[in-house]
Amino acid sequence: KHQQQQPLIAAHQEAAQLYHHILVNTKLGESARAYLKKRQISPEMIDRFNLGYAPGNQVLQSFFAERKTDYQTLRKTGMFVEDQQGNLKDRFSNRLMFPIANLTGAIVGFSGRLLQPDDNAPKYLNSPETAIFNKRRVLYNYAPARQAARQKHRLILFEGFMDVISATQAGIENGVASMGTSLTEEQIYDLKRVTDHIDIFYDGDTPGQKAIARAVTLLEQTKQFQIGVIQIPNGMDPDEYRREFGAAGFQSIVKSGREPVIKFRLRYLRTQFNLSNEAERIDYAQQATRLIARLDSSVERTVYLKDLATDLDLGLASLQEQCDQDRQRLEHEQRPAHAKDTPPRATPQQR
Ligand code: GTP
Ligand code: MN
Ligand code: MN
Ligand code: MN
Ligand code: MN
Repeated sequence: KHQQQQPLIAAHQEAAQLYHHILVNTKLGESARAYLKKRQISPEMIDRFNLGYAPGNQVLQSFFAERKTDYQTLRKTGMFVEDQQGNLKDRFSNRLMFPIANLTGAIVGFSGRLLQPDDNAPKYLNSPETAIFNKRRVLYNYAPARQAARQKHRLILFEGFMDVISATQAGIENGVASMGTSLTEEQIYDLKRVTDHIDIFYDGDTPGQKAIARAVTLLEQTKQFQIGVIQIPNGMDPDEYRREFGAAGFQSIVKSGREPVIKFRLRYLRTQFNLSNEAERIDYAQQATRLIARLDSSVERTVYLKDLATDLDLGLASLQEQCDQDRQRLEHEQRPAHAKDTPPRATPQQR
């Protein structure tokens, strides 16, 4: 298996070097260089992440034809699309290229971004699934972040490539990103191999918030992580935040902007209700109380119940009572059906 994969990996390495050369040294790369400059991505990051530019005009096809690279190998890389006659044409044209490495750092695929996206094509185009490229497994920047996590004992989970690169430029090197796709079981397994402390730093827009809720649920289900959520204001994404507030601002939000999951969940829940409507206020109060009831510490429960009481202008006593009822119900639910009168046994951890 390894022997079949080696030529595919070698072809990706060569393609990445070509795209990188075009970006950094040629006239064809000028627009992409200007674009990266505008986005305040430093030359160091361009080198470190081996960014490139695919100018179109079948440069990749010509490059490999000259080297007489085996046709079947090229087909299997996914770097080309095949026409009716079986001719290979470059898959990526006019795109800023992000080489994607596997868990050991070998380049196994690409994602290409249009400099000026429009409605006719996706902003990001990814390599298709191949023998070496499995999107469900990819965590962008995994190998370097794993090194960095040895000191920091935590990983930061971002939405996008540009967020990881931006973070690195700001000196935060323990960031990874899934491929825009929502977090998978495979990725969670590979996160676990690095650390049990994960901070989720997704975009501040609505899809980002929704994705946090989903990621939190998936990570919590394994019962193997300590999770934090870094909340970003005004619908910005982490990369935009660095451009607005600089490296120091970025470092400080990473260091001090981390919130416990309950805070995120309560805020997210709150956005789903129209609190000027009485029925919705009650519904929100009940659902929020049920979330708080799951906390083990009674001090913590009181803190969040107090916040909720103030927010809704309700008496703390009634929320406290509701919370106690919820806890009794929770205890009841967790008790196995055949042993109603014996205390619940500790539930074994998954995996
Ligand atoms: P920039 O616009 O370059 O800053 O990228 P971004 O990372 O901020 O993009 P966004 O927040 O829109 O999306 C997050 C991630 O989802 C990206 O990094 C991509 O991996 C992925 N993504 C975004 N748009 C597309 C798309 O059109 N197709 C695919 N396949 N993935 C996408
Ligand atoms: Mn720990
Ligand atoms: Mn986004
Ligand atoms: Mn984004
Ligand atoms: Mn962005």
